[in-house]
Amino acid sequence: MTKTLIVGATGLLGNELLRASKKYGNEVHALVRSKTRLNAEKMKTLEAVGATIHVGDLDDYDSLLKACKAVDCVISSVNWQSGDERTLIQAAKDAGVKRFIPSAFGLDFTVATPGSSLIIDNFSAVYSSLLAAGLPYTLIHTGGFFTYWVATLGDMTKLGSPLPPEEVNLYGDGKVKGSFVSESDVATVTVRALNDPKMENQAIHIGANTITQNEMIEMWEKMSGRSVRKISVMSDDIENIIASSVSQDQKVILSVAQLKRSYWIRGESVKHSTRSKAAEELYPDLPFQTVQEGLTRLLHH
Ligand SMILES: NC(=O)c1ccc[n+]([C@@H]2O[C@H](COP(=O)([O-])OP(=O)(O)OC[C@H]3O[C@@H](n4cnc5c(N)ncnc54)[C@H](OP(=O)(O)O)[C@@H]3O)[C@@H](O)[C@H]2O)c1
Repeated sequence: MTKTLIVGATGLLGNELLRASKKYGNEVHALVRSKTRLNAEKMKTLEAVGATIHVGDLDDYDSLLKACKAVDCVISSVNWQSGDERTLIQAAKDAGVKRFIPSAFGLDFTVATPGSSLIIDNFSAVYSSLLAAGLPYTLIHTGGFFTYWVATLGDMTKLGSPLPPEEVNLYGDGKVKGSFVSESDVATVTVRALNDPKMENQAIHIGANTITQNEMIEMWEKMSGRSVRKISVMSDDIENIIASSVSQDQKVILSVAQLKRSYWIRGESVKHSTRSKAAEELYPDLPFQTVQEGLTRLLHH
């Protein structure tokens, strides 16, 4: 039984990773911050899967080393604002961890335009650290998560409002294809790859759903019988937001605008390096959720 540590287990993807790890027979461990340990709501899924809890923090090397020494493999699902993943990589290396999956769950950063996104550049930096450490790894390239990209009909600025929105920003001509996947499918592929000896030092991409923003909006309108107002946001408008978001407190606005440019203007989420293997071919038994299924769930909410 693989002993798997999830760092970031109380997060959106982390919760799904807990469930998938349990489902595929891993012994589940989770690193949890001391304050979060006291949050009963956040601890629910960890308790449901019987995870062994290690109290620690990305900033605390000793806590990371201790947790890593208790396991065979590590999956990181912290977010780009959580802290420096390099300390975790060092601890995993020092503990002799056999496989590390970094928190780079987004478009394939190896084909994205370098220097054009805080989040994607962070994925690249973490990967460079993994290579430098010589730690066995697997990269999971996902495209956009349903919660962020499908529920919002492709407009992440609508997060926090009732979804799907009645009015969306339509980026560019709305005809650029993007790639999207449910968080639970990301977790399933991650855990399958973690336990798959062939996937050591390899990359996987999940490209089960490709769709344009126009098509996604039209699909929702047909299913729901509602109409969605579209506000046109052209490439220059996004460039202006990016150019003017320079202060520290505009980092979220900046990173969201950069991602929209990558997905809806440059079409980078459907591009993959030649070394990356398609999850649908590697694991043909997996029934990937479709965009239509993702939207259907919202209809019944
Ligand atoms: N492609 C997409 O559309 C998309 C969308 C969203 C996320 N993602 C990716 O998915 C991954 C996970 O993101 P997420 O949205 O699931 O993250 P999230 O919900 O924000 O969760 C972050 C997790 O990291 C933990 N954490 C934060 N700071 C920490 C620290 N200093 N030490 C230890 N743990 C810490 C949090 O713990 P607490 O509970 O203690 O705060 C939480 O468990 C990232 O790679 C992200 O880029 C991709």
